[in-house]
Amino acid sequence: MTDSPYQGYLYAYPHKTAYRRLVPRPSLAEVWAGERTDALFGYVHVPFCEMRCGFCNLFTRANPAADQVTAYLDRLRAQTRAVRDALGAGARFARMAIGGGTPTYLTAPELTMLFEIVGDHGVPLSVETSPATATPDRLAVLAAPGTTRVSIGVQSFLDAEARAAGRPQHRSEVERALGVIRDAGIPLLNIDLIYGIDGQTARTWRESLDAALAWRPEELYLYPLYVRPLTGLGRRARSWADWDAARLARYRQAVDVLTGAGYAQLSMRQFRRADVPADDGPDYCCQDDGMVGLGCGARSYTSSLHYSFDYAVTVGEVRAVLDDYLSRPDDDFRFAEFGYRLDEAEQRRRWLLKSLLRAEGVSAVDYRARFGTSHVDDFPELAALAARGWLRPERDRLTADGLAWSDAIGPRLVSAPVRAAMDGHVPR
Ligand SMILES: C[S@@+](CC[C@H](N)C(=O)[O-])C[C@H]1O[C@@H](n2cnc3c(N)ncnc32)[C@H](O)[C@@H]1O
Ligand code: SF4
Repeated sequence: MTDSPYQGYLYAYPHKTAYRRLVPRPSLAEVWAGERTDALFGYVHVPFCEMRCGFCNLFTRANPAADQVTAYLDRLRAQTRAVRDALGAGARFARMAIGGGTPTYLTAPELTMLFEIVGDHGVPLSVETSPATATPDRLAVLAAPGTTRVSIGVQSFLDAEARAAGRPQHRSEVERALGVIRDAGIPLLNIDLIYGIDGQTARTWRESLDAALAWRPEELYLYPLYVRPLTGLGRRARSWADWDAARLARYRQAVDVLTGAGYAQLSMRQFRRADVPADDGPDYCCQDDGMVGLGCGARSYTSSLHYSFDYAVTVGEVRAVLDDYLSRPDDDFRFAEFGYRLDEAEQRRRWLLKSLLRAEGVSAVDYRARFGTSHVDDFPELAALAARGWLRPERDRLTADGLAWSDAIGPRLVSAPVRAAMDGHVPR
């Protein structure tokens, strides 16, 4: 396990388990004072799904009562208003995303209300959906305010594999949903697939890849399966080493198939059709700060404080945190309650990690422009990665092997203080 390529997906740094209650809780007006707010990334979290997939540990609740959705939209409206007031008149979004959970768990009228709350900013907007909920009436609502990207979690085109992953679905429904998205004329379609599912072979993985490619999606995200120990999926009979080898083989196979089909690899997980113009689209996790999260469980980032209004990490905590969010008075939304303060060293580290885990790597020039030093001098630990063949000798970009081992490299570069905070996390 210690030398597994699959230690953890470092999609945010610091990880949320490093957050602590902020005492006293700062007001958002204080938190954002002096920050650049003219090109923010807005993220809206919808924590509902039609089912809880066996593999998923995201912040979401399956099949909530209908009045919970109504109550959620009501609180989201209050939070959005409070955040807008705190940011001030000059604040602008450069791009936005609505994720979850499954935003399209909401009915078409509820989605209309969600868009009315969030507002039409005329900027790139990405929305997540699932096969069962990508219906024509909902897609029509998404298309109206100019959604530029729709991302659908397919996971596998094989019914047996979807079931084995804890997500019963039929391929006919997946194909129908993809047709609906294409018919809605959304410019950018992303398909999520998972590899490492029990029973998945090189042949069946190829079948899923080919089925996805038949739609010529503008983007594909390929996720290695992670399971929590002790869940149904975690109690697999095979050894961890076998499973690692299988995931690595499926990864390498996918890189070959997708590059052969004209896709560029942007990171371990992300692939984009080479003829699609590179953009700074809504899902692009750049190194820059300035993210505003709205909704229960959403995080926000300024240059020196990462915070969330509420705090849940494990699935068991989600219910309590959601109930808490629904019961809050408007005034509470003017404050940040949990967070992690990034000193200059952590800001550098975050910048490095965010760049290094992308195929394009670190720009030494941009790093120096931002921090006035060299990333090679600031991070001597990069030498060990280069020695292992994961990093080019220039220490600016991962090698092909390094990209494959991204989920081992990210956790290795977590700082000692952040690691200690993560280890000390106690579920509420
Ligand atoms: C927010 S979800 C996708 C949207 C939508 N709720 C759906 O599932 O159709 C983002 C993606 O993360 C991936 N994912 C979630 N949990 C995972 C896990 N334990 N292992 C691997 N991939 C996972 C799935 O591919 C999923 O589609
Ligand atoms: S994978 Fe998607 S649909 Fe399944 S529980 Fe997670 S967020 Fe919900």
